[in-house]
Amino acid sequence: MIDKDTRGLGLAPATADDYRELARRRLPRQLFDYLDGAAYEEQTAGANRQAFSRLRLRQRVMRDVSQLNLSARVLGQELALPLILAPLGLAGAMARRAEVQAARAAERAGVAFCESTVSICSIEEVRAATTAPFWYQLYVMRDRGYTRELLARAQAAGCPVLVLTVDLAVMGARYRDTRNGMTGALPLVGRLARAWDLLSHPHWLLDVAIRGKPLTFGNLAAAVPDARSLPAFKAWVDSQFDPRITWTDLAWVRENWRGKILVKGVLDVDDAREAAAAGADGLVVSNHGGRQLDSVAASIDALPRIVDAVGDRLEVLMDGGVRSGLDVVKALALGAKACMLGRAWGYAVAARGEAGVAHMLSVMRQEMEVALALCGVTDLAALDGEALVQAGQQLRPGDPASGRHEEFGISAIRD
Ligand code: FNR
Repeated sequence: MIDKDTRGLGLAPATADDYRELARRRLPRQLFDYLDGAAYEEQTAGANRQAFSRLRLRQRVMRDVSQLNLSARVLGQELALPLILAPLGLAGAMARRAEVQAARAAERAGVAFCESTVSICSIEEVRAATTAPFWYQLYVMRDRGYTRELLARAQAAGCPVLVLTVDLAVMGARYRDTRNGMTGALPLVGRLARAWDLLSHPHWLLDVAIRGKPLTFGNLAAAVPDARSLPAFKAWVDSQFDPRITWTDLAWVRENWRGKILVKGVLDVDDAREAAAAGADGLVVSNHGGRQLDSVAASIDALPRIVDAVGDRLEVLMDGGVRSGLDVVKALALGAKACMLGRAWGYAVAARGEAGVAHMLSVMRQEMEVALALCGVTDLAALDGEALVQAGQQLRPGDPASGRHEEFGISAIRD
């Protein structure tokens, strides 16, 4: 987080956190809170960040770092950087046709974009605006016929990877949304306060509310033709999440999907093993950005043991709290194949649209280059626990004190 003392003159955004501040100013409060907020006391969302900041990189020098390779092959796709823009529902309410803007920025940067089931722009709109393959995220809905239709549409659009999100069997409560009156009927005063919140943000009003229409869930329009407002759509979507889903449903998804399947939302080693047994191609270690069950582990803390358990069978990605290229390098050092960026792109697109996302990604690239070079590593693929040391120490191989890494549950750190 950037505090006021380090913000300088505030003339230009330097980091993903700077885009957060710009998004805070640009967006109506209720939308910023939807994007920025998390479940209950937001402890896990905070832990996602704190756990990254506890990790220390191991500086190495004099190792010829003139040629760096940051590219990665993730689930069969060549990426210029090991990054995927995570599925963000309702992104198109943050900026005009935001999914299209973000997908274009991703294409320019050579990273993957993942379209959410509950996007504003439809699969077809994103397809028409881009040429690179993008990924599709699915929530398995009670209405299996409609779910099958969605899969067929994503296949027709050439999506190579299906991201099956499994941590939404029920919805975690996001109390900021409750306080902003997003979750229930409001008396007149409340409705006026919310309307004023929208009207007092003229940039957003012009860019999104006027020029960004239609503000409906593009992929679901046919399923809920009567819905006239986002809350009406949201009510339908909430009622559609299927709490009965189990690993056997993965076989049903497989029958209806020709490409790769990435299971998103795994935090536990036993679940990771089940995902492997059920035939997933990969998984995303994720707590949904702390938006589901609060008090669960930070994703980066859960990552190493999952990599140990299934990394030889599955491609293991992670998300949650990734805000810089240094975070990405840390995650890869702990065994992740790639990282998904959630709020980082949400803030950037809300603040500056496609240019903001493109800039944020270029900053991440530069940060990754510097981190790699000063860790003395020339190829991302060669990153491992050797690139990390415990906070407060620069341990050498064989140093007896290095066993202390285990105290932190980070078994992959070199010792
Ligand atoms: C999400 N996330 C999410 N995940 C998913 O599978 N489908 C979705 O529609 C959404 N929608 C969504 C909306 C918003 C506003 C946020 C912030 C997040 C979760 C997302 O894909 C990702 O897992 C987290 O955002 C990662 O954490 P960070 O990077 O935001 O800290």
